[in-house]
Amino acid sequence: MNKATDHKLQNEVDKRRTFAIISHPDAGKTTLTEKLLLFGGAIRLAGTVKARKASKHATSDWMEIEKQRGISVTSSVMQFDYLDHRVNILDTPGHQDFSEDTYRTLTAADSAVMLIDVAKGVETQTIKLFQVCAKRGIPIFTFINKLDREGRSPFDLMEELENVLGIRSVPMNWPIGMGRELCGVYDRMKNQVELFQGDDHSVIRVQKVESYRDPIIREMAGEYLHDQLCADLELLDVAGDPFDYEKVLRGEITPVFFGSAINNFGVQTFLDNFLELAPKPEPRRSTAGAVEPTNEKFTGYVFKIQANMNPAHRDRIAFLRIVSGKFERGMSVKHVRAGKDIKLSQPQQFLAQDRDIVEEAYPGDIIGLFDPGIFRIGDTLSQAGDIEFDELPTFSPEIFSKVTIKNALKSKQFQKGIDQLTEEGMIQVFRTVNFDDILLGVVGQLQFEVFEYRMKGEYGVDVQLQRMSYQFARWIVDDENKPDASKFRINSTLVTDKKGNYVVLFENEYAMRTAMEKNPTAKFLETAP
Ligand code: G4P
Repeated sequence: MNKATDHKLQNEVDKRRTFAIISHPDAGKTTLTEKLLLFGGAIRLAGTVKARKASKHATSDWMEIEKQRGISVTSSVMQFDYLDHRVNILDTPGHQDFSEDTYRTLTAADSAVMLIDVAKGVETQTIKLFQVCAKRGIPIFTFINKLDREGRSPFDLMEELENVLGIRSVPMNWPIGMGRELCGVYDRMKNQVELFQGDDHSVIRVQKVESYRDPIIREMAGEYLHDQLCADLELLDVAGDPFDYEKVLRGEITPVFFGSAINNFGVQTFLDNFLELAPKPEPRRSTAGAVEPTNEKFTGYVFKIQANMNPAHRDRIAFLRIVSGKFERGMSVKHVRAGKDIKLSQPQQFLAQDRDIVEEAYPGDIIGLFDPGIFRIGDTLSQAGDIEFDELPTFSPEIFSKVTIKNALKSKQFQKGIDQLTEEGMIQVFRTVNFDDILLGVVGQLQFEVFEYRMKGEYGVDVQLQRMSYQFARWIVDDENKPDASKFRINSTLVTDKKGNYVVLFENEYAMRTAMEKNPTAKFLETAP
């Protein structure tokens, strides 16, 4: 490959930013996403994403159940250009019934934006998503939203980030007032104020200043708010963490931005700063060591499989994260697990749910591949030989049901359905060690409904689900003793997963702690070994 092409690949990698927005429902993810897309010119009218969210019944041709419930059970990918960057936003389902897919999607991101409602602070779904990102050590940027409403004190929120999530924070800007009094933010890094003006706060004036003590701010914000700003920032200067970029990149400290997505306030400066600080596509670990994005040989891995996006086709879509090299439509790649060469002829890129055929793509980009049933989560596609990327983690389910079949004559289809839906990563299947009962584990309740629906619709099998009271699954690894089912009878049970690994299901944390104490030689892992 000649130098010019190398240079082009390097440029394409350098300009890409692939991230996910993590938040609890209602924090404003749809609103923020929409504003970001608007800056990139990816949608012309505000309200497009929102309208899509609201009118799923009319517009979505995705899974029937999604229509019935009027919510999204899928994650999609949005791409836009902004200044010199090509931005990929990995969307994650915002409804409470999110699934393991949400977690897996996060493995395809190089950084995360954590969106927090200023009045509500850190909420349950944020905690779960944060933990998945923190485990990977990716940089996490925080946007505290809805500043136009009365909320909690910024100091209080920073303390909560540390106490609940265990991450220290460094405010990049600081609110001048809040709620009805909100008049702007002070940018600590650039020493400038951004002020809301006009009745609807739609005009934003940016003013360079000497420091936060600059009398210009006093003139603009008034004595009271300026005194408060000075007091807060003096405290931060003394007691706050300094901005340390290396720590940000290691995910040890989170830069915090304040703003109001709905008023577009603080969004553009957030985007500018974020894109500057967020990492470009990162290398991924493989059986042949780390694969650098600038490696000219194309590689990528499947992180998610989505069934029946279009009911007219029974095909599935496999979402592929490109790790290295250039993707070109029609190229042949090795499907490493299957040991076969395949041609990638109809790849798609996603803007919300409108799908376009993609001609070329680069590391950090996500493409959708038609999947006639040949892909599994974690599969590697490669032009760089028989390498395989690290297996994607299997996350601990949080809800469990015993599944039985209503008509015993259908047991073959039942098994086929279970096998395929497990492979797709929609459910996890376990067998009890003593009784050979089949238990299913999921992260969100909706997955059970989707499972029931698809077993009937696609495999013609009526199933019966009986909810169990377990809440945690831990993979048990004990080099000294074989796990003994009789030890896990009170508020717990011993099962095996699809690969035959031993797993213990627990009803509560107390039962889990007790089991750990009683089995000191065993390790209890949160993800499959
Ligand atoms: P989500 O995707 O995270 O679930 O949140 P979404 O953007 O749908 O926002 C949830 C609600 O919060 C919406 O109000 C939205 O308008 C509001 N919101 C988002 N950003 C801000 C903000 O900066 N300030 C204020 N005050 N509100 C904000 P809703 O009443 O549910 O919908 P709608 O009536 O506004 O359409």
